[in-house]
Amino acid sequence: MLSQNDIKQKLGIYAADFIQQDMLVGLGTGTTVFYLLKELGKRKRQGLNFTAVCTSNQTQNILDEEKINYFSIDEVDKLQLTIDGADEADENGNLIKGGGGALLQEKIVAAASEKLIIIIDEKKNVQTLGVFPLPVEVITFGWKQVQKKIESNYNIQTKLRYKDNSIFITDHQHYILDCWFNRILNPFELNKNLHLIPGVVETGLFVQMATTIVSGFADGRIEVKNI
Ligand code: 5RP
Repeated sequence: MLSQNDIKQKLGIYAADFIQQDMLVGLGTGTTVFYLLKELGKRKRQGLNFTAVCTSNQTQNILDEEKINYFSIDEVDKLQLTIDGADEADENGNLIKGGGGALLQEKIVAAASEKLIIIIDEKKNVQTLGVFPLPVEVITFGWKQVQKKIESNYNIQTKLRYKDNSIFITDHQHYILDCWFNRILNPFELNKNLHLIPGVVETGLFVQMATTIVSGFADGRIEVKNI
């Protein structure tokens, strides 16, 4: 049986095959994508040529280490595909993302991509989204007002995200509220309604964006589902 890390590594190496010569691709963020980036670095040294757009400073730093070229999103028209991780995926391919805090850039890059390929441990496939707390990125001014509105509108608990005993600050200098919805029956409506609260920058709900879900199993199998 593979460990969780082995599954991530297998997924990363598998997903590298989606990136072909001279492609322009978006590269996601997180511990699963980490293995993809490492594999791409290796393939680049072996002659694979491609250009990337990063979804976070973390990914940009790894690309610097691996000597992989990247553009800013504003230098490109559209991307052929983006490969990213996720925290939950439902059977329609709707996602919760942002466990690593990069949801804003991830969503912008995904929206500019013709395809969004998600690589996940199969345990992240769920029937209904929401057990994983939904990350909501908010501007720092008035964040408590946003928190109060989300808690009272939905009768749920939320928590300002911390990392290493300090408030977690996103790449775009915002805060994240982790929101325990438990059961998100209509991700489309929830995403839309959260955006109506002044101060909400983005939510971790990626609705009808993923085109392929690649799931890795502990027995070594990889399952590819096109949405
Ligand atoms: C970062 C993300 C990640 O894709 C998500 O949290 C999954 O990460 P990991 O592969 O480390 O489990 O959305 O903002």
